[in-house]
Amino acid sequence: MPGSRILLIVGGGIAAFKIPELIRMLRREGLSVTPVLTSGGAEFVTPLTLSALAEAPCHTALFDLTRESEMGHIQLSRNADLVVVAPATADLMARMAAGMADDLATTLLLATDKPVLAAPAMNVRMWNHPATRRNRDLLEEDGIRFVGPDEGDMACGEYGPGRMAEPEAIRDAILAALGHDRPLRLPPEAVVSLPPAQGRLSGHHVIVTSGPTHEPIDPVRYIANRSSGAQGTAIAAALRDLGARVSFVTGPAEVPPPEGVEVIRVETARQMRDAVERALPADAAVMAAAVADWQVLNARDSKIKKDAQGAAPMLEFAENPDILAWLGRLTNGRPDLVVGFAAETDDVLANAKAKRLRKGADWIVANDVSPETGIMGGPENAVTLITETGAEPWPRMTKPEVARRLAERIADTLAGELP
Ligand code: C5P
Repeated sequence: MPGSRILLIVGGGIAAFKIPELIRMLRREGLSVTPVLTSGGAEFVTPLTLSALAEAPCHTALFDLTRESEMGHIQLSRNADLVVVAPATADLMARMAAGMADDLATTLLLATDKPVLAAPAMNVRMWNHPATRRNRDLLEEDGIRFVGPDEGDMACGEYGPGRMAEPEAIRDAILAALGHDRPLRLPPEAVVSLPPAQGRLSGHHVIVTSGPTHEPIDPVRYIANRSSGAQGTAIAAALRDLGARVSFVTGPAEVPPPEGVEVIRVETARQMRDAVERALPADAAVMAAAVADWQVLNARDSKIKKDAQGAAPMLEFAENPDILAWLGRLTNGRPDLVVGFAAETDDVLANAKAKRLRKGADWIVANDVSPETGIMGGPENAVTLITETGAEPWPRMTKPEVARRLAERIADTLAGELP
């Protein structure tokens, strides 16, 4: 079973943001994953993210001549032990049911001689529509298996069946389709990532925010930034490793959240603020998220169409809540230690010191994110820790190393050993 090959077709739905986590889970089961991204899927997740996590090239186009000569699409579809479609959108299901082959994904699905498992994800009305039901019945008759969809709150604000099954459930369905039900023996690295029973921070609760926020323009478009979530994720993992109970409030990040922490997924700054408020009380809070400063005031409920006269839409902005400043100045229930980040490109220290005071933070982790540093989205970070007593430059190190050192400092402080 470890060594089985999954061809993973990623359709164009918001649920595609869960696919990196699914790939990570499949890799940990010892499966090899070849991602195929539809053009719709590429609106939600990048080929680079999928290929980095899968450690395999991500295929995107049908007429890629180099690959066509190295490996034709027929061979690609048959090299797999199982073909998985997740998220399977209403459109993709319709095209599969009709036997279309107008892009790489549908061509592979038509050419394969291997079992296919689909994880549908769509709006509740689309799922309940007679056309989708018909397509689902046809696909089932063709022998395609399904996992989900789940019932719950949807990205579009409605409630009902249509949410893609959680990555754990898709992984279990994949293992079952390959003839292996859980529980399997986990590989050793899966075991070490669980929180230790005892540690310097056991008994302490820490809230960590991480990743970007997405501020919708309309149901399909949003404003975001280039935060990968790598530093915040590493901090949550390091705090967990010291035994802390971690509430990890994350925007749509590129890297999957750590194991052994409570993951609260949000999209917008307002949702992030509400999630942090709900996670209180806490002993410490580390606000590592790159929160969007503005939200679109005139965001639309339906997709903005191109104007026939070529006029561009006008967006109006309103300032988002500053979560760090709100938490730092909370009179009732403020965590003992509030840590913020300051990603700056000019006057790094002066700006970060001013930010510490302005936002009521105890510490600011300042870093220079000028493009030439390669820090934004890169594996390393060079930070200066600014506290009440001064500025302490740390040598350039990897983001997990920064996270471990910060977690140790938090443990020192919460244990009352250092100011
Ligand atoms: O003002 P600036 O965005 O540079 O501040 C960075 C710090 O403030 C980070 O710790 C970030 O997580 C936090 N922040 C926040 N809410 C905002 C903006 C920033 O928590 N709306």
